[in-house]
Amino acid sequence: MTSVNRLMRAIRVFEFGNPEVLKLCTDVPVPSPGEDQVLVRVRACGINPVETYIRAGAYARKPTLPYTPGTDIAGVVEDVGKKVTSFKNGDRVFATSTITGGYAEYALCSSSTVYPLPDQLNFKQGAALSVPYLTAYRALCHKAHAKPGEVVLVHGASGGVGIAACQIARAYGLKVFGTAGTPAGLDLILKNGAHKAFNHRETITERQIILIKLRRLLEDKELMLYWKCCPMLISAMICASCLPAAE
Ligand SMILES: NC(=O)c1ccc[n+]([C@@H]2O[C@H](COP(=O)([O-])OP(=O)(O)OC[C@H]3O[C@@H](n4cnc5c(N)ncnc54)[C@H](OP(=O)(O)O)[C@@H]3O)[C@@H](O)[C@H]2O)c1
Repeated sequence: MTSVNRLMRAIRVFEFGNPEVLKLCTDVPVPSPGEDQVLVRVRACGINPVETYIRAGAYARKPTLPYTPGTDIAGVVEDVGKKVTSFKNGDRVFATSTITGGYAEYALCSSSTVYPLPDQLNFKQGAALSVPYLTAYRALCHKAHAKPGEVVLVHGASGGVGIAACQIARAYGLKVFGTAGTPAGLDLILKNGAHKAFNHRETITERQIILIKLRRLLEDKELMLYWKCCPMLISAMICASCLPAAE
């Protein structure tokens, strides 16, 4: 699986732990694609929370050490295996998974996890497609069966998955409420599809005001989805459904 002569830079993790365990190595062999594999020259790699859980050794799936982190990549096809017919050298692609890790100059992927990168997306956007957008799409469309006119509360809307959820929900014609913890986050979600934005770090009193506002906005429609569990807000929302209509 490795070429004899070529070396690349890659981040290697030799032990699970804090970010310090991420080591930049310059002598990692460039892998060669097997029959049904694609070698991608990585131009951008998405960094999602799951990478930190894996690196810390706190995730259910633990890679064999040492390993190179990085799941979401975008880049250019460098080489393809003998059985790969969908891609050729030079194609712009993104991948939803890698075999050898995305924090590297080159990443080996199974061809089934590689997709053409649309012209209108740059590499950074391509590297943000898989974990954030496919997760948001699966939750909203496959699991919650979102329909135009329904109401969604995206709790933690200012993060990667939350922004994706706001954009997709808005595009589907939903009424979108989102929460963020900073003024910049509130501004961000309003620019990315949310009709209304609420601060999830408000005090209890302010939270009650939010609930009253939410109650008014809900217009007797039930929230279809709590994006991220927050016991305080969820219990408060249950109370909110019992609230009389606010002025
Ligand atoms: N199951 C899956 O397949 C899957 C896939 C992707 C992600 N996830 C999980 O989904 C979560 C979000 O992922 P992400 O990529 O969007 O992470 P992220 O970019 O780090 O975003 C985190 C979000 O959580 C919000 N937040 C922080 N503290 C909060 C609090 N006390 N109450 C409410 N919201 C709070 C942040 O808002 P502020 O910073 O504005 O406060 C931000 O919107 C992570 O736990 C991740 O592991 C699961």
